[in-house]
Amino acid sequence: MSAVIDTTSPLARDVLRRRTFAIISHPDAGKTTLTEKLLLFGGAIQMAGTVKARKSSRHATSDWMEVEKQRGISVTSSVMQFDYAEHTVNLLDTPGHSDFSEDTYRVLTAVDAAVMVIDAAKGVEAQTIKLLEVCRLRNTPIITFVNKMDREVRNPIETLEEIESVLKIQCAPITWPIGMGKTFRGVFHLLNDRLMRFTAGEERKTDAEEIIEGLDNPKLTELYPQEIEAARSEVDLIRSASSPFDLQEFLSGKQTPVFFGSGINNFGVQEVLQALIDWAPPPKPRDAGVREVQPTEPKFSGFVFKIQANMDPKHRDRIAFFRVCAGRYTPGMKVQHVREKREMKLGNALTFMANERVKSEDAVAGDIIGIHNHGQLQIGDTLTEGEILGFKGIPYFAPEMFRSVRARDPIKAKQLQKGLQELGEEGAIQVLEANFGNTMLLGAVGQLQFEIVAHRLQTEYKVDAIYESSGIYTARWLTFPSDNLRKEFEREQAANMGKDVDENPVFLSGNKYNLQLTQERWEPKGVGFHATREHGQRLSHI
Ligand code: G4P
Repeated sequence: MSAVIDTTSPLARDVLRRRTFAIISHPDAGKTTLTEKLLLFGGAIQMAGTVKARKSSRHATSDWMEVEKQRGISVTSSVMQFDYAEHTVNLLDTPGHSDFSEDTYRVLTAVDAAVMVIDAAKGVEAQTIKLLEVCRLRNTPIITFVNKMDREVRNPIETLEEIESVLKIQCAPITWPIGMGKTFRGVFHLLNDRLMRFTAGEERKTDAEEIIEGLDNPKLTELYPQEIEAARSEVDLIRSASSPFDLQEFLSGKQTPVFFGSGINNFGVQEVLQALIDWAPPPKPRDAGVREVQPTEPKFSGFVFKIQANMDPKHRDRIAFFRVCAGRYTPGMKVQHVREKREMKLGNALTFMANERVKSEDAVAGDIIGIHNHGQLQIGDTLTEGEILGFKGIPYFAPEMFRSVRARDPIKAKQLQKGLQELGEEGAIQVLEANFGNTMLLGAVGQLQFEIVAHRLQTEYKVDAIYESSGIYTARWLTFPSDNLRKEFEREQAANMGKDVDENPVFLSGNKYNLQLTQERWEPKGVGFHATREHGQRLSHI
């Protein structure tokens, strides 16, 4: 059903000014650095230009968890809102580490575009490939930033070829680097026909002196007598050989505009931000199960894509991150909690700025609000102004690693249960129970998830737990065509049965062959073995 959209209403005007995106990259490509520079442009932070200040404030802005600091990797995701060029930009941070791919996946369900950072020396790396696959599932438009041009890096033409062949996305260069490393002179804007000069060690200010109109400008011959001829012929080559930018191709996720620069020098970053404003889409309609929801509909609705604890040690709490999909949030409004079939008051929702969170006064589609959560909200929950909707596309993935867990001191069993329940709700880990021997199981996609959970159980819940290998290879959620068949299956497979936190039946397999054989026997009878399930979904047993 497509509704007629009134683009002139105050709500529509606000929605069209929204840009909600995430930065994706392999660790160390420069995501944190780019985030900081974008926040600087948005006036969301004022930072001294020293590396030291940058480092310490980095922890203050996007790294909250202690473990994260110890390890120096970003394991939690954060949200930052800022205004730029009469737009409201929501930047969602994603953990770069592949062990948190599930978390990243959820964050990417809440954005309308992504910026992909590539280290110009390393090219396309493993985690970039994975993240791009996720973006492709939703045809998310992607802007590419090739970073670290102030270093001796690979030939930029090779980098483009690699992006095209490995990531299977067409590249449309928008800026082109002139030199690299010690002889990095700047980037030439192919659409504006202007060269932006680079001065090593300086953060670029938008200053007329640093911009030279036209590549044929004699001033360039004067400035760079050695390199300019080669640069001119390279730009000619790129102009004739590469694909021109096509907005529709970009919006459908088939083509990516490519920018070159150096995040640390704040060079080439503003162009990326401008592209987000000019080309990235405002909030799009969303599939809410029974119908598509338009972002400019007057009635409020949206979904929880993340639960996070301990964002700020001063406020010991859990926050549900909620993407508004339609309507307008106003403080104190009453909403329908669809899963729990009850009304709920949204009192003090939060808006996240760079390094503070403030009471949200107003939020529209594309915005992310933080809702204080005492266990009533789960990942995937839909809130509406009355209508029964269910936003789709936030799955759990079948875990790939398992540990059995028990409290070292049996007196702490209850405490362990509570901790696991809460950590499971947050999506930090999946908690399963094997029927055989009533064993509690932790299921993860990456090893680091176990370490974080062990650390948090110890520090937050004061439980010292014993983790042992479980002998389980994989898990599949089960669906049955009839109650009788369910009983028959459960009888035969009693030793392999378990359940998840929502009481859904799970098949726990000790090895690949056992899973294969069981599937071959039971699938023809109509038993479903599922590697994913939607958040909050109760699989039908019948
Ligand atoms: P990440 O979030 O993607 O993991 O990357 P991050 O921004 O932390 O950057 C990783 C490293 O790359 C940092 O160095 C950072 O300073 C450096 N870097 C980022 N952008 C550029 C750039 O344009 N040019 C150069 N030459 N380096 C860049 P580090 O030594 O790990 O940390 P730090 O001491 O600089 O904080």
